[in-house]
Amino acid sequence: ARTAAVIPAAGRGVRLGPGAPKALRTLGGTPMLIHAVRAMAASRAVSLVVVVAPRDGAAEVKTLLDAHTLPERTDFLVVPGGENRQDSVKAGIDALPPGYDTVLVHDAARPLVPVDTVDAVIEAVRDGAVAVVPALPLADTVKEVEPRADGPEPVLSTPARARLRAVQTPQGFERATLVRAHETVTENVTDDASMVEQLGLPVVVVPGHEEAFKVTRPLDLVLAEAVLARRRK
Ligand code: CTP
Ligand code: MG
Repeated sequence: ARTAAVIPAAGRGVRLGPGAPKALRTLGGTPMLIHAVRAMAASRAVSLVVVVAPRDGAAEVKTLLDAHTLPERTDFLVVPGGENRQDSVKAGIDALPPGYDTVLVHDAARPLVPVDTVDAVIEAVRDGAVAVVPALPLADTVKEVEPRADGPEPVLSTPARARLRAVQTPQGFERATLVRAHETVTENVTDDASMVEQLGLPVVVVPGHEEAFKVTRPLDLVLAEAVLARRRK
């Protein structure tokens, strides 16, 4: 029962602002993508990492991976990504060789996830869950609104915060379930587990980690650099 990690890294990073594709932007001098690959490879259970590169950047990503040291036990593959995240994940799944029964899907934009979180997700899949997501309770109260571009937005409801979780990656799956989810679900979604939910199959949450935050906006880069600096002390 081997485990592979698919890393969607084909996004532009529009919300981060102008510059190189987000996964190639550096943290502590090292591309975010390399941090993310190392975070997956840090788990002794992960023996293959499939990187989904920007469509015109697969060769560059391959060169980058060759230039950085990874654990001896870890193989990697690079495939070109798609129009949206879901297409990119699908491209990664399609490239998986036989023999990997557990598959993680991990955003390149979450470069600092600790290995304990990765291992907890893998363990829950190996214990029998078909889909596992790491997540954290929310700090902010959340409101559902009627979205409006031109003025104050009416509030529709306030879900009980204690029942809400903010979802991170890596999300872990029994391979056959993930494949079926991607073959069946057509509408656009923002995470892979929700496609498994749409199949009517159970998804479970394990504790996430605050360092598994997604680098989305410029302020997130400041936080990521600070986390790295603290680790290097
Ligand atoms: N992703 C991908 N292929 C796409 C779009 C996104 O592989 N066509 C990946 C990103 O590279 C990222 C992850 O999905 O690792 C999460 O997406 P997000 O944080 O939204 O990154 P971007 O789409 O690059 O950022 P933005 O939405 O701000 O453009
Ligand atoms: Mg995006």
